[in-house]
Amino acid sequence: MNSTSSPSLDLSRFPRRTLLDGPTPIQHLARLSARLGGADIYVKREDLTGLGGGGNKLRKLEFLIGEALARGADTVITVGARQSNHARLTAAAAARVGLRCELVLTRTVPRFDHDYLENGNVLLDALFDARVHDLPGTANALQFAEERANELRAQGRNVYVCPLGGSSPVGCLGYADCAAEIVAQSHTQNLAFDRIVVPNGSGGMQAGLVAGFVAMGLDPSCIAAFTVLGRAAHTYPLTLEKANQTVQLIDPSLRVSDDAISIDEAQLGPGYGIPTENMRATVRLMASTEGLLLDPVYSGKAFAGLVENVSTGKYPVGQKILFVMTGGLPGLFAYRNEF
Ligand SMILES: Cc1ncc(COP(=O)(O)O)c(C=O)c1O
Repeated sequence: MNSTSSPSLDLSRFPRRTLLDGPTPIQHLARLSARLGGADIYVKREDLTGLGGGGNKLRKLEFLIGEALARGADTVITVGARQSNHARLTAAAAARVGLRCELVLTRTVPRFDHDYLENGNVLLDALFDARVHDLPGTANALQFAEERANELRAQGRNVYVCPLGGSSPVGCLGYADCAAEIVAQSHTQNLAFDRIVVPNGSGGMQAGLVAGFVAMGLDPSCIAAFTVLGRAAHTYPLTLEKANQTVQLIDPSLRVSDDAISIDEAQLGPGYGIPTENMRATVRLMASTEGLLLDPVYSGKAFAGLVENVSTGKYPVGQKILFVMTGGLPGLFAYRNEF
């Protein structure tokens, strides 16, 4: 990640409702870096966003809620897995701006204990007064959401439907904006990162970061993801397409090259939301070495990949690696019996 002066990105023409309280900090993990004996590890604290328990989805929601309000919406509907952080933060953002919220949650993850079904994000969804539609794992959540939206529209409501993970091109603008924030912070803190490591779920965060780099005229090849939802062969074209749609929203003349998207599936394990031994060990390592909390579904698996790459020398001494720490803390309570 090299540039002599800090480039900027003007997203002011897009409707936006501020939900963050300013830039999130970048912090050095001195004890963990020393313990692993490889690259220096830094974290971008996207978990330290103030609304609704915090997390990466608030960046996307600034633009999604902005668009919903610009269209005069009175209701927002979104979809996700039962323990979706995106759904929880959509409910919190809706409460903050005075929109009604409905969540279409599917039982995609094969966990049926009380903590998974009722604690964690699900508890918070109820506190934010969202109406939850509880669907089986096989259901088509987006189709259900569209049908529900039409039903509400027939009753005179103005409904905004938000896609899985908030990862429409408009939502991804939030992470293009974060790319500019990271570049500005790396200038002021004099940190040249060799790599920026992220989890990839619905792909919007990686797509947005890559689009932001391309829109600023920077090389996005330092951005690397660990997929936690789909196999790499499935996730790669979807993420590339989202990155292209996002960059073209910013500037229709721009394009993301095929090699700008790097996705590793080594930490996915048996599938989305299914714990792995590496994830459990990494959540414990981070908590006991740095006092920081990863989540079991996204950041725990992705950070496990980072730790492995530092330990095996793929990220060697002398390099600086930035991990985007995305939040998801309520998930720990939903997966209590894994720890
Ligand atoms: C805590 C957390 N980290 C990472 C992600 C992945 O972000 P994306 O869906 O944009 O790939 C999510 C998405 O739900 C999340 O909740």
